[in-house]
This record gives sequence, structure tokens and C-alpha cells, in this order.
Amino acid sequence: MIIGIESIGIYTARYVIDLGVLADARGVDPAKYYVGLGQEMMSIAPLNEDVVTLGANAARLALEKVAAREAIGTVIFATETGVDQSKAAGIYLHNLLGLGCNCRVVELKQACYSSTAALQFAAALVARQPEHKVLVVAADIARYGLGTAGEPTQGCGAVAMVVSSEPKLVELEPHSGMYTEDLMDFWRPNYREEALVDGKLSARMYISVLEKAFEDYRSRSGVEFKDIDEFCYHLPFTRMAEKAHARLARKFGGVVLRPEEAVAQIGHSLDYNRIIGNSYTAALYIGLASLLDNNEDDLAGRRIGFYSYGSGCVGEYFSGRIMEGYGEWLHTEHHREALAGRVNIGIEEYERLYREKLPTDGSEFITPKHRVGCYSLVGICDHKRIYESVGE
Ligand code: HMG
Repeated sequence: MIIGIESIGIYTARYVIDLGVLADARGVDPAKYYVGLGQEMMSIAPLNEDVVTLGANAARLALEKVAAREAIGTVIFATETGVDQSKAAGIYLHNLLGLGCNCRVVELKQACYSSTAALQFAAALVARQPEHKVLVVAADIARYGLGTAGEPTQGCGAVAMVVSSEPKLVELEPHSGMYTEDLMDFWRPNYREEALVDGKLSARMYISVLEKAFEDYRSRSGVEFKDIDEFCYHLPFTRMAEKAHARLARKFGGVVLRPEEAVAQIGHSLDYNRIIGNSYTAALYIGLASLLDNNEDDLAGRRIGFYSYGSGCVGEYFSGRIMEGYGEWLHTEHHREALAGRVNIGIEEYERLYREKLPTDGSEFITPKHRVGCYSLVGICDHKRIYESVGE
């Protein structure tokens, strides 16, 4: 039996700001963001889009070509932008998508890493019950303080993947390399809406954990750097992945890559994230969708290496093989339309949206009606979030 990703759908919010506009407003050379961070734009969510609506839009797409939707027996929702301390965000999504009641739903958290835990748990469930399909959804809204160094690395997005014994896109290989360490590089206490971060430490640890997780992966799997054809990295900003790839190539492949060579090797996995920004736990798998959608070569049979990093910190390196005929199962046009259909906003609108907040005392509230995807957070009533399907 093979187990892997049967389908993938991605989604991002309705608004977008060009980082050149942000740079001008902050008195920074735009080249620092465009070249230094490798980011061009970041998606901005209005108040009526949250991780539930972003995730539901991605999942709607991921389920479109999946036969036997009733076989979805588990929904795992990975996020660090939880909307409730108790109830899983996935339950709202399960309802919005009209999934069957004979289904378990749970939420997972470990910074940007939890989507990978979700994928591995999903694969284990399918191994136990091969007729079972698992819907893995990862969605986040990255938020740092206005005017901070982290601000240009915001963004938001969602990815949904159906994991099953009929993978049409990627067969997951069984070996993983792992690394965990108690570290304060990035965190968000319950009382805060913006993350706290030691940016330089986080960037150093991202690379150091990559080396440790890869070492563990190669010793467990026997797979060497030279045996990997394509690479997907967690993407806080694209330059981070380029540097990480150059380090991996040097340390484990004995190859010294010039920056442009590193970009050429991982280039298409970066395309979407460069214009979405950091979507935390969704970012690695938006990178996978980007690679499959945008690479013009037939990638069938090629091995992909995945590096997942979540601050705090957990890292995992694992791999998969791209399936024959994967191109038929992609949603490339939908993804491109969602990205191209975003509305460009200026600095004032960005700061206004940034400051808009839901009430924290449970009082009745109707969210402003921004045009969004198929699902909207319409308001709060008696401390309860109210969602609705709105159609495109
Ligand atoms: P900073 O300190 O303002 O930036 O913030 P910098 O001074 O380090 O400059 C960035 C790069 O731009 C440098 O390149 C500069 O040289 C270059 P490098 O030397 O590193 O190669 N630069 C220019 N290039 C061209 N023209 C110019 C120019 N000026 C400068 N004129 C930092 C950068 C990433 C620290 C900040 O944005 C930040 O704190 N971001 C948030 C944290 C983050 O993204 N960390 C990444 C690793 S941790 C991770 O991925 C986990 C995470 O996703 C969270 C989770 O797990 O949930 C964040």
C-alpha cells in the first residue's frame, strides 16, 4: 500500500500590499524587502476572514476532485492563530463544508510545524485503515507589530490536503528526521495578538535545526542530499529558504552554490510565498503547491525533500515521490485566480485593517462586509462566532 497526498488546495486573503509601499512608509530601501528578504507582497486579511474561512476555502478546492468525500473520517486543523482555547477551528470548517458526522475533528499547535505533524498523523491513520481519508488543513495569519523588523514578514494563507491510500500527487516516504529543543526564538503568549520574536536567533536556529533534522533523516533513511531532486522549505520569507538550501548543499552535498544557483534549484517552490508572505504552518505546503503548479517540467517520479520548522522549536525532514499524472489533479488555475484577484491596498488601508479588532468581551458585533471567498465570519453573538457560506 502507498500513502500520500491525494489532492491539495490553497487560498489566501482578499487584500494584498506591495512591500515597496510598506518600505516607503517605513523609510526603508525597498531592496531590503525585495532582495534582502526576497519578498514582493503580503496578503492581508480583513476582519471577516480568519483561519476558519481561509481553511474552508482551501479545503473546498482540495475536495473538488476527490472521489468518495464520505470517506473523510478525520479532519486535522493545524494553526497557531486559534480562534478559541477549547473548540477546534476544524469543527466550524467541517460544518461549512457539509462533511459527514461520522468524522473526528481536532486542532494541532506547534508554531509553523504543526501541519507536518498533521500530515504524519494522517498517514498513520490511513495505514491503520486504508479506506479512511484524512483532510489536513493548515491556516494562519502572521502578525507582528507595526514598524517592527518582523512587519515585512507578515502574510496569511491556508492549504488543505487530502491524505489517503490513493495519492495522486505525492507518495510519502516512511522515514523522517526530527529535532526538538526548548527555545524562545518566537512565541505568542495568550494575551497577545502579535508574535514576539528574536529574529536573528530564529533565523540561526532555522538553519541549525535543518542540519540536525537532515542528519537524523539520512541516518534513518540512507537517502543522501544527491538522491533528492526537488526541495521544499518552510518559508517565513524566500531568502531564508535560499540560504538554508545553500547550507544543506554545502554540508551534505559538498557543493558550493552561488545564490542564483540556490534559487534555480528551489525556485518554483518560492513563487507563491514571495507574493503571499509568511502563512506560518501553511507556508511549507503552499510551497509544495507552488512547485507542482509552476514547474513546467514533468516532475513525475522525482523525490521531494521537505523541511518543516516551527519556532520554539521543532524541525522535521522527510521526503516523498511525485506521482505519475499528478498534473491532472492540480488546481493551478484556481490558485492563480485567487492570487491575481486580490485587491491591492495602500499603507493607510493596511494600517486601518491591521487595527480593526473583534470585541474581546463577547458583545454583539457584525463584521464589516468585505468581499471575500466562499465563506465569511459574519459576526459575534453571545461570545459565539457566526460563519456563513457566501459564494464567490
Ligand atoms: P532585520 O533585522 O530588519 O533585517 O530583520 P536585516 O538587517 O537582517 O536585513 C535582512 C536582509 O536584507 C539581510 O540579508 C541584509 O543584508 C539585507 P542577509 O545579510 O541576512 O543575507 N539588506 C538588503 N539587501 C539589499 N538591499 C538593501 C538591504 N538592506 C538590508 N538595501 C528578520 C530581518 C528576518 C530578522 C525580521 O524580518 C524578523 O524578525 N522576521 C520574523 C522572524 C522570522 O521570519 N524568522 C525566520 C526563521 S524562524 C521561522 O521561520 C519560524 C516562523 O515562521 C514562526 C513559526 O514557526 O511559527 C517565523
